[in-house]
Amino acid sequence: DLPARVRIHEVGARDGLQNEKGAVPTEVKAEFIRRLADAGLTTIEATSFVHPKWVPQLADAEQLFPLVRDVPVELPVLVPNARGLDRALALNATRVAVFASATESFAKANLNRTVDEALAMFAPVVARAKAEQVHVRGYLSMCFGDPWEGPVPVHQVVRVSKALMDMGCDELSLGDTIGVATAAHVQDLLSRLNEEGVPTSAIGVHFHDTYGQALANTLAALQHGVTTVDASAGGLGGCPYAKSATGNLATEDLVWMLQGLGIDTGVDLGRLTATSVWMADHLGRPSPSRTVRALSHQ
Ligand code: HMG
Ligand code: MG
Repeated sequence: DLPARVRIHEVGARDGLQNEKGAVPTEVKAEFIRRLADAGLTTIEATSFVHPKWVPQLADAEQLFPLVRDVPVELPVLVPNARGLDRALALNATRVAVFASATESFAKANLNRTVDEALAMFAPVVARAKAEQVHVRGYLSMCFGDPWEGPVPVHQVVRVSKALMDMGCDELSLGDTIGVATAAHVQDLLSRLNEEGVPTSAIGVHFHDTYGQALANTLAALQHGVTTVDASAGGLGGCPYAKSATGNLATEDLVWMLQGLGIDTGVDLGRLTATSVWMADHLGRPSPSRTVRALSHQ
């Protein structure tokens, strides 16, 4: 059975723009977020309060967040540590996300920590966020394969997932950071997480589309009962600290499939496509989304 409704967690302004070579002006980012909200998206990840040298593309978080704070949608932001949470709370953010890794190689590359050191860094962040009534998402990267370590054993993913949930995260987002997952692997991981006490209701999926499997993987997750799906408008994205990561599942491709399945998302596909075409013009190259290309004759 498929869910009646899916909540799309839009990551284009964060996961998408963090990977752009050229700097996108802060006002263009703000306009992007406003247009995404006008297209009906209700959860729009805005930016990251990370070290500006690690992700210079999002170094304008302090300038951007106040420009969009009044947009009537949820605006989660990434925070890796206490310093990041301080910055987010100073601007009255109400949703934050910490981001763990299932593999040692990526924990080192992305956070300059071992897996367990990173978890130790997040624990007080999550505790303080919860004490402030802030919603916490726990991202988990490299849930399927890792560019340095190859296929990632399910038990490794389960261990870190449980640690994030035990810490108090409200939801988990399972990241296929480099886009190597296939449908059977997705179903296997979800089943194992359920067996270990992590309920499907707490799980979102975050697929990158490197091998063109993101939609198939999403359908497998929906069949398992998942109702939160991450996607990025126009298929923008990647991760600067994971070689071979390409863009996320395009939100337009996702909405096209969900519409066809009769699943409600609240998104206006025409407006969303127009937004991605507008952003593609700013970035100077066409959107990689098949649906954007088909609907815009790009
Ligand atoms: P570090 O170098 O170990 O930092 O980096 P540190 O803790 O040793 O601190 C060094 C200095 O940085 C200090 O300043 C801190 O104050 C400052 P000093 O005392 O030397 O003057 N500092 C900060 N400044 C501003 N904001 C902060 C902050 N933290 C420390 N938050 C650190 C550790 C975690 C900071 C660094 O590794 C980092 O910022 N990493 C972020 C990487 C990132 O954003 N990656 C992309 C997001 S993850 C992703 O895309 C995957 C995902 O999409 C899911 C998927 O696809 O799998 C979510
Ligand atoms: Mg990602």
